[in-house]
Amino acid sequence: MTTDDTEFLRFPDGFRWGTSTSAYQVEGAVGADGRGESVWDRFCRVPGAVENGDTGDVACDQYRRGTEDIALMAGLGTNAHRFSLAWPRIIPEGGGRVEKRGLDHYDRFIDGLLEQGISPLATLYHWDLPVALQDSGGWRNRDTAERFAEYAVVCFDAFGDRVRDWVTINEPWIVGLLGHQLGLHAPGEKDLKASVTVMHHLLLAHGLAVGALRTAGREDARAGIAYSLFPNTPDDPSDPADVAATAASDGYVNRWFLDPVHGHGYPQDMREHWEQAVGELDFIHDGDLGTIAAGSDFIGVNFYSRRIISAGRGDGPWPWKVEKGRPDVPRTDLGWEIVPDDLAALLMRLHEDYPGVPLLITENGAVYGDEPGADGAVHDHRRIAFVDAHLRAVHRAIGAGAPVEGYYHWSLIDNFEWAMGYRPRFGLVHVDRRTQRRTVKDSGRWYAGVARSGALPPIGEDVL
Ligand code: FCB
Repeated sequence: MTTDDTEFLRFPDGFRWGTSTSAYQVEGAVGADGRGESVWDRFCRVPGAVENGDTGDVACDQYRRGTEDIALMAGLGTNAHRFSLAWPRIIPEGGGRVEKRGLDHYDRFIDGLLEQGISPLATLYHWDLPVALQDSGGWRNRDTAERFAEYAVVCFDAFGDRVRDWVTINEPWIVGLLGHQLGLHAPGEKDLKASVTVMHHLLLAHGLAVGALRTAGREDARAGIAYSLFPNTPDDPSDPADVAATAASDGYVNRWFLDPVHGHGYPQDMREHWEQAVGELDFIHDGDLGTIAAGSDFIGVNFYSRRIISAGRGDGPWPWKVEKGRPDVPRTDLGWEIVPDDLAALLMRLHEDYPGVPLLITENGAVYGDEPGADGAVHDHRRIAFVDAHLRAVHRAIGAGAPVEGYYHWSLIDNFEWAMGYRPRFGLVHVDRRTQRRTVKDSGRWYAGVARSGALPPIGEDVL
C-alpha cells in the first residue's frame, strides 16, 4: 500500500462529481408529445438486431419519471449530470418544424437539475438520428451536418441561458464503426467508405455547431466532443512491428478525431491507410478542416478499456490485429479488461498532445450483474473497487498536471445498452425491469460519500 491508499484522497475544489446517461437509453415514451421516429426505434425492430428483441420503447421511463431520477441524483450528492437531448423530440423530422412539447420537457428537466444544485452537461447527439434524415442518407449525406447545426442553434437558444457545457457528438468512431462498418448499431450499414464518410460529417457537424455557438455570442458557453478513447498497447513491446502497428491503430481510433478537432488536420499516416482501403477521400471539401477546428473547449473522455495490438491483419482492412487481452488482467462481467493505469496514462497523453485543453471524463463505468439480495440491497462491491481504482488514476493524473475537471459515471441507472439490450447493468442505481422500481446500489451509496466529501476514502475503509 502507498500513502495514497491509506489516507483520504482529496480532489480539487470545484471538481464535478457527475453521472451520465443518454436519451434513448433511459427515456422511453417514444410516442409521447410529438416525438419523431429515430434510427434506433427502427433498428430495434429488425429481427436479431438487439438481444432478446429488446427496445428502448420503455427503457427507464425517465421521460415520465424525471423528478424521481433527479431526486435520486440529489441523494447521490452529485453536482453534475450529463444527459442527451433527443433530436427527434425537438425537431421530429430532423429539419424544419420545432416541437415545443419536446423543448418544454427538457426545460423542466434542466430546471429540476438546477434546483438541486446539479449542473447540466447536455449532449446534442447520442445516436438517435431522426429517421427522416436517415431516409435521405443519414450521416453519409453532408447535408445532415447542416441540419445538425440548425438543431444545435435551437437548443442553444432554448437552454443556453442555463446550460453552459455542451457535448456536440457522442463517440464519432463508434457511430462509424458499429453503425456503418459492422452493422451492429443503427442504422445497421456495412460499408467501409460510408463509415469514414460518416465520421467526417460528424466532425463537420461538430465544427458547424461550435461555430454557431460562437456566433450566438454565448461567451461563457463551452463545447466539445465525447470520444471513445482507447489506449493501444503493443502485444510484444520489444517487437518493433507490434510497436509500429500499435501506433497505427492509435491513428485509427484516437488521432483521426482528436488531431483535426485540435487544429492539426487528419494524421497523414492514417489518411494513407484510409485511402488504401476506400480510395480517394473525396467527401473532404476545401475548408472543412478549418470548420472542424473551429474550436473545442474541452475533450470529453469516454474510457472503458484498452486495445492490445499486434502486427498482421485482423478481420478488417488494417495492417494490425486486435488481440484478446491478457488472462491475468481482471475483467468486468462484460469481459472488458480493467486497466485504470491506462486511464492515467491516457489523461497525461492528452495533456501533452493537446496542451491547455480541459479534460472531462464524460463516461467511465463497468458492467456487473449484481441483483438485489434477500436484504433488498445490491452489494456490488466490484463496482466500488472499479470506480475507486479509476478515480485514483484520475487523481494521479491531476497531481501530474492533467487538467481534469470532472468525472461523470456511466451510468446513473441500469439502462438500454444498445445492441445488448437490457442484459448489461452499468448503473449506480438498479432498475427492476418489470416494475421500474429503483434501488440505489452499494456503489451509489459509496459514490455519494465521495461526491459529498470531494475525497476518496482509504482503501478498505467501511464507509457504507
Ligand atoms: C458508450 C456509449 C454509452 C454506453 C457506454 C457503455 O460507448 O456512449 O451510450 O453505451 O458505452
